[in-house]
Amino acid sequence: MDSHDFALTIVHKVGKYADDLESAVFSHVKGKMKPESLIPVFQSLMWKEYFLGVPPPSKQIVLLPDRDLDIKIMLADQITDELRHSRAFSERVKALGGNGSLLEYQPSEEDLQMYRATYDYEDPVEIAASLQIAGEPALNMILNRLAQIADETTARMIRQIQLDEGRHIKIGQLILQRHATTPEKQRRVEEIVDRKYEALYASHGRAVRLALRSSTGKPS
Ligand SMILES: [Fe+2]
Ligand SMILES: [Fe+2]
Repeated sequence: MDSHDFALTIVHKVGKYADDLESAVFSHVKGKMKPESLIPVFQSLMWKEYFLGVPPPSKQIVLLPDRDLDIKIMLADQITDELRHSRAFSERVKALGGNGSLLEYQPSEEDLQMYRATYDYEDPVEIAASLQIAGEPALNMILNRLAQIADETTARMIRQIQLDEGRHIKIGQLILQRHATTPEKQRRVEEIVDRKYEALYASHGRAVRLALRSSTGKPS
């Protein structure tokens, strides 16, 4: 398939995956949650924004050829966005009375699985499949739902973060258009997207289950 068409097709397919992910992760959540019960979710997001948002795009910058300077500049911008998002979640955790230290957060096995499913590739197309193509739309759906169930201050912060994520998806699309030009590469992208969604269910599902457990009167 032409790589432009392929990039559009895969983004469309991932939109459906992200819908299903949101329904599965939040299936037990009804109505607003107590602000502090969302601390484990925000701690996990603080960690993910940093560890998925900084090392993988840095690796893409190194792996892409020099002629992709325009993409490298967009990736550098993405890194600064993700650092800002990580800090925003950290600040929110602190304001809600939790430990917002990135260094002191102990990533769960599911968080680490997600890191490996994003960083452990040696091809910028494969990282794009996992990070910008699969991961960003999933995060956007998760953030949509969190904004609905969180307090107003948190919801405002989340909506601010979401303004950046659309740009990151576009970077992935551009990398696929330029480099996912063979059937082998396109098949690989599809495999990676499927694998990433398994990791996303595990990691986001765990954080939301923890939040439900700490939220009095809610099912776990
Ligand atoms: Fe982000
Ligand atoms: Fe992002």
